[in-house]
Amino acid sequence: MPLITYHGHSCITVKGSNGEIIIDPYLTGSKYTDISPGEVDVDAVLITHGHDDHLGDALTIASQCDALVVAPMELASFCRNRGIRKTHSMQIGGSYQFDFGWVKLTQALHGSCVIENGRIEYTGNPCGFLLRIDDSMIYHAGDTGLFGDMKLLGDMYEIDAAFLPIGDNFTMGPEDALVAVGLLRPRIVVPIHYNTFDVISQDADSFKKAVEENTNSACYVLEPGDSFELTPGSRK
Ligand code: NI
Ligand code: MN
Repeated sequence: MPLITYHGHSCITVKGSNGEIIIDPYLTGSKYTDISPGEVDVDAVLITHGHDDHLGDALTIASQCDALVVAPMELASFCRNRGIRKTHSMQIGGSYQFDFGWVKLTQALHGSCVIENGRIEYTGNPCGFLLRIDDSMIYHAGDTGLFGDMKLLGDMYEIDAAFLPIGDNFTMGPEDALVAVGLLRPRIVVPIHYNTFDVISQDADSFKKAVEENTNSACYVLEPGDSFELTPGSRK
C-alpha cells in the first residue's frame, strides 16, 4: 500500500514497495512545507512543469539522491543541461513502466518555462501524472484549469486519490475543482496549490464540505507533513 505524504503547495512523496518518489518539490522558499531538500531521500523526482514553485529543489534533490528525473521532454533536457545524470523524457499521453511504478503524462492547461535573470527558457508543455503504484491509481493534476477530458480519465481509470489545485488565479479555483471531482470520480480528493501565496488563498474546509455534499468522493485536507496510507477500496 503506498504511503503518501503532503509537503505543501503541490509537493507530495509516494512511498511504494518498489521505491519512493517526490513530485514538484518546492521546498526552499516555501512558507508552507515541513521539510528541507536535504531530508529528502527518493529514487525519482517527477516534475509537472518548469515554474519555480514546481521545479523547486528538483535539481538539488536529484543530484543528492542520484535520483531519476521524470518530466516532459524539454524540461528533462533542461535538467540534463544542468548536470542531472539520470533523466527520463516523456510527453503527454505517453506512459512508461518504471521500477517504482507506472507513469502516464496527462494534459494540463497551463504554461511551462524557467525564468532566470529575466530571461525565459521554454520547458515544453506542462503535464499532470497518473501513477500506478502497488495497484493504487493516483492522479496529480499539476497546475491546470478545468478540462472536459478529465471525464475520460475518470472513465478509463479507477482513481484512488486525486491531487487537484484549488488556488484559483493560476489554476482551477474551488468551484471548477468541484466540477473536476465529478468528472474524475476519485475515491479520495486532496486539494493542493492554495494558501502558499496571498493570491491563491482558499478555504480548504469549505471545499471539503462541498465535495462531500455534492460527490461520492472523500476529501482529505492535509497539512504539510500529514500522511495517509492508500488502502485498497473501490469507487462508490
Ligand atoms: Ni505553474
Ligand atoms: Mn504553480
